[in-house]
Parts: sequence; C-alpha cells; structure tokens
Amino acid sequence: MPLVGTPVPRLEAPDKVTGAACYVDDFALPGMIYGVTVRSPGPRGRIRRIRLGDGIPWEEITVVTARDIPGDNVVALINDDQPCLAAEVYNHAEEAVVLLAHRDRALLERARRQVHLDVEPLPPVLTIDDALAAREVIWGTDNIIKSYLVEQGDVEAALREADLVVQGEYETGAQEHLYIEPNGMVAVATPEDGVTVWGSLQCPYYVQKALMRLFRLPPERTRVVQLETGGGFGGKEDYPSMIAAHAALLSWKAGGVPVKIVYDRTEDMLATTKRHPSRTRHRTGLRRDGTLVALDIDFVIDGGAYSTLSQVVLSRGTIHAAGPYRCDNVRIRGRAVATNTPPRGAFRGFGAPQSLFALERHLDVVARAAGLPPEELRRRNFIRRGERLAVGQQVRDGVDLPALLERALQVSGWTERKNRFRQENQRGTIRRGLGLSCFLHGTGFTGSGESHLASTVALEGTAEGRVRVLTSSTEIGQGTNTIFSQIAADALGVGGEIIEVPRPDTAAVPDSGPTVASRTCTIVGKLIETAALSLRQQLLEEGLLPLPYTTGDFQAACAAYVRQRGALRATARYQPPPGIHWDEVRFRGDAYGAYSWAVYVAQVRVDLCTYQAQVEEFWTVQEVGRVVNPTLAAGQIEGGVAQAIGWALYEHVAWQEGRMANCRMTDYIIPTTMDIPPIHVWFEEAPYPYGAFGAKGLGELPMDGPAPAILNAIHDALGVSICRVPATPEVIYDALSREEALV
Ligand code: MOS
Repeated sequence: MPLVGTPVPRLEAPDKVTGAACYVDDFALPGMIYGVTVRSPGPRGRIRRIRLGDGIPWEEITVVTARDIPGDNVVALINDDQPCLAAEVYNHAEEAVVLLAHRDRALLERARRQVHLDVEPLPPVLTIDDALAAREVIWGTDNIIKSYLVEQGDVEAALREADLVVQGEYETGAQEHLYIEPNGMVAVATPEDGVTVWGSLQCPYYVQKALMRLFRLPPERTRVVQLETGGGFGGKEDYPSMIAAHAALLSWKAGGVPVKIVYDRTEDMLATTKRHPSRTRHRTGLRRDGTLVALDIDFVIDGGAYSTLSQVVLSRGTIHAAGPYRCDNVRIRGRAVATNTPPRGAFRGFGAPQSLFALERHLDVVARAAGLPPEELRRRNFIRRGERLAVGQQVRDGVDLPALLERALQVSGWTERKNRFRQENQRGTIRRGLGLSCFLHGTGFTGSGESHLASTVALEGTAEGRVRVLTSSTEIGQGTNTIFSQIAADALGVGGEIIEVPRPDTAAVPDSGPTVASRTCTIVGKLIETAALSLRQQLLEEGLLPLPYTTGDFQAACAAYVRQRGALRATARYQPPPGIHWDEVRFRGDAYGAYSWAVYVAQVRVDLCTYQAQVEEFWTVQEVGRVVNPTLAAGQIEGGVAQAIGWALYEHVAWQEGRMANCRMTDYIIPTTMDIPPIHVWFEEAPYPYGAFGAKGLGELPMDGPAPAILNAIHDALGVSICRVPATPEVIYDALSREEALV
C-alpha cells in the first residue's frame, strides 16, 4: 500500500500532545546555568564604557563582552557584517553588547539591570527614504545592501506607445513570526572538547558554520543538535546562530558549564528578525484590449542594520515581482537598504509576498482603469507553458492558469456573490466584496543556489532491519518527518513502520541544506527517493532480497547485509535537473527548477461603523505538483492563509526610534480562530519529475496570495483603493476620509 498521497498522521504528534516532546526549555544538563543579554539602548551610537553597578556579587557571575570572543566577532552567514556582540558601535536598538550567566535567575535579572552602558548616540537612519537619501551612511557606501536588475525588451518605448499607463505605490509592514516557541539554545563549550549546542532551529549547518568562525574550530569539534522546535517560518533560519553563539561564549568563559538562553516573548519580539517592510512602485503600460505591454517595477525592502538574509529575500522578491504573466517589456529594479532597526530576516515566502502584494493589488487598479473585470485582465495576460517569465525562464510546468482561475471563480460562486453584494451594499453599514489574486512561487533555492548547496542525504539499513533517514532537514511542525518516512517507505517498497527519521545532529547527519524555501519535500525528498532506490538496489544485487518482497523480507535482507558485509548505507547528492541554467551576473535564466501556481479568492466584510475588515470566507486553488500528504498539505495552506490574513489586516509593528513599541501579544494583534474564516483548499496535481514523487514547493505559496486578494476585496466592497498592509481600521478610515474629501 503506497503511503505517498495518503494522510499518514504526523509522526511526532503523540509526543507533542502528551507533553513528552522535549523543547529547549525542557532540556537540562547537570550543573546548567542561565544566560541573559544586555542590549543597546537606542538605534545607533558609540559605546564609550561598560560599567558594572553596585550591589551585585559580580565575582559569581560570568560576564562576556566582544573581547572574550576567541575567533572572529561575526555571525557568519553571507556577508559576515553582523557582529556577535557590539564592540565600539551599535547599529540598532536591542543589539547584544554584554552577556551574563549565573544559576540564580533572579540574581541574573538584577545584575542585568546593573550593567550600565555609557553611550554617545549617533543620528539614526530609520526609513527606506532616509536610507536612500544616504545623508547618514550606515552600510557600505550608500546604504544599499544589494540590488538586482531584471530587464527585457524596451520598457520606456513600450510605455510611450501604450494606450494606457497606470501608476501605483504599495507598501507592506514588518511582520513578527510569532512561532509558538521563542528562540532558545543550550551550549557546552571548552577549548579541549569544542562546542556543542542544542536548540530550537531550522538550519543545523548554518549554526555550525557560525560557531566555527566564532571559535575558530573545525567542523568535527562544532556540533549542533536540533531539539523539538515549535515553529520557525524563517524566524529560526539565521537568528539561532546568534543565540547559540551567545550561549557558547558564556559556557566557554565559565569553564565548560552548560549554559541555557531562552528568550521570553518580549525579548524575542524586540530582538529577533521580522519580515522585511517593503515599498513597490509600478508603472504599467497596456493596449486598449488589456494586453500588458510594459511592466516597470521598483521594489525596495528594508533590511535593517545588518544584511543577514536580505540578499536572498531581495532576489526572490525581485524575481516574483512580475508574477505569472507574459509581458515583453519588463524592468524590475530591486534594492535592499539598511536602516538602524533590528535586522530583518527570512519569513515564509521571503520577498515574494511583498512584491506579489504590490503586483496583484496594482492589477486590480489597472483593471479598473482599463474598464475590465479584474479576472478578465489577468486571463488575457496569463503566462502559458512554453512562454517566458520576466527573467527569461521558459515555463515547463504543466500549468493551466486559465483553468485554475475558472475553478476558483466557480467554487467561490464569484459572479453570483458579486451580484448579491452589489445589491446588499446599497443599504446599512456593512459592505461586502470579493477579491482575487493569481501568483506563483518558485520551489527551492533561487538560481544556482541548489547547485552551490549540493545537498546530500544518507539512508542506513540497521542490523534490526530498520532504515534510518539521515538529513539535516528539521521537523518544525510542518511534517518533515512524516513525509520523509512516506517517501522512503514507498521508494523502498516497505511499510512506514520500519522507517526512522532521527532528529538532526551535525555529528550524525550529512548536510542536506537548510530547512527553508519550500525545498524540503521536493528537493531533499527527491534525494531520499534516490538514495532509497540505491539502497534497495544494493540488497537486490547481493541476492538478499527476493522479488517480490514483503516488509519482513526487506528487514531480513537488511539484517543479513549488515551481518555479512558491515554497514549498509546509500547516499544521494543534488544534481540540477537537465537544461537548467542561471546567470547570476545578468540575473537571467532558470530561476527555479519549478513553480507552484495558485488563484485565491477572498470574501471580505467591512463594517462602516468600526472600519474593521474581516475575512468571511476564503477559497484557494493551487497546482503544487504531487501532494504527498493531503492532510499536511491542506494544513500548510490553511496555516499560510491564516498567517497572511494577519499580515493583511491585523499585524502592525509600531516602530518608535527603530524599536518595536508593541512588543507584547496584548498589543501586537494576530488573528485568533475567531478571525479565521472557512478556508477551502483545492489541489491540482501536475507532477514535477525532479521532485520527490512529483512534488513541488508548497509551504510558502499560501503566504503570497491572501493579502492582495483581501485588499482587492476591500476595494470591491468600498470602491476605495488601499495600497498598504496591514489594512487596520485606522488605515481604512483614512482611505475613506480621503475619498470623501475628494468628493
Ligand atoms: Mo525560510 S522564510 O523558512 O525559507
């Protein structure tokens, strides 16, 4: 009985519901003490002096500053511009400056308040416009961390010749990941034994790389072990390296005593990464019949004080900015700028939700200007198989966007509901509207990223006749272990009960890359499939496996192999699909091996007394290749839509002098179950030959489409265009007041 395509229950669920699962805050080592962080007081300045105040037994407390770092004071990632501890200057509020450790947490908290930083404030850069104006330069020579240019055809000529040109400007705010479990790490570090950390994380080998650089240690003396991880969404991609480094520095200084650092919710919200805020400007040229002839897009994201993952966020945002449409003349300028705010990081979709929000919101404005229904404008411009995206990539996926759109319109009752709302909106104080969005999301790392990663997985047959799947892909609540066991079992032709997926430990698993970018199932899963076939082949070639065989036969064959020949192991290493080429310099070519495609519809209700918008019902139609586990897949879509509803309507980060002012769950408002409508999920399956059993990326896709669909629905309901998220009641009130002032 094949498991792929069936709703196998989550393997780790029993441990989670019974409380047996061990998260970092449950994890303890003998003699363990606690670490805390002393942080910079404002957005930018010079550190003159660190003073330890009175009334604290400082001789009992481990105190670490930048001077205690044995290697390089960086959190190694891409540009290595972020210090592990600020030494002379600080570039954002809440930047780590001093670390303290002690076994008594109450004393530690008193001590933290008695570390005084004498500082000289410097003028901060706090907005995208300040950064671009570059009166103060805080990064490189012009505050621009990275820029990309996608260009094809002649945009200026096409705009001149267009029958209609429509401009618009769109903004998106920061968003807090708000994973259920805050960031945390435990470390043991000594010059003799090296560094070991245990914690909540997405990317074990990112953390290892950072620790190696910080302590100048080889990989075999730098060990990273994942513990049960309560959600990530990108928020545990780069930040765990920082907190692991802090815990390890404290342990190193304390003579190898285990040190635990776990952030509380407020510290996590203040200090860790968020989604990049963005501003996108569009100039769009059309022919009278609605054909897009020019797309001129200026996409800027705010990266915060250090570059972290901004360049990969920017590259994905830039490539997705022209969406699933055909247009001969396209120019997309993407820039990531630095500001004196805590560094922004990856967050589900990383860049694509921002640029697709702008495009899909803008196309509704364009459709009105062209006198076309929004669905008709899109239908006339959809890219088809064989045609080229803005980066020049020929679409090979078996996608049929007009069919996805028809299905979305039909299942949502688009026409009937629209007519009904038009009638009902004549009376009373409730307005309803429908909005849609059409989009795509690239699977895996961008460009040559997957080739550079060269991910490896291993499968191991044991003497007990079981098979262990060894990868660095982390289970973070999304179902990695379950789908990996389904894939391995089916490729081996055995039951799932003999498959084990141990939690990643860099001492025991190969580097199969980070758990990011909707790559786990498709890319790492495919490697598992390949390695499984090779393991099975070894048993067949040795004559140990009869054909056909049962799970019991397979177990016996594994056991016999190990007894007779020793270790039974098969590995697989990433090879790009044939014919895939990416030119990083010209920023052209096959940006992704495959894309997932979707059409989403939102029904929104706006209350004209409270100015509150609420999503009443939501329809999703997507083509994601083969669906490996329908329940987990639907869960990904529902969760992504819920998170995107938060970004679209509720989640407003209030910045005050570069610091998150509403750093508590009482004032940073996320949707609860009461705010999440029925979400309908439909999958179309066009299997991708280079993904595990045909799978394409799916985890991030649902973050891209809801915000524009919801704001398009608000436009439909009110006749007023809102160009920024979150569309809080204040934003809706302002838009309506401006409209009235114009009348
Ligand atoms: Mo990441 S936003 O978990 O690719």
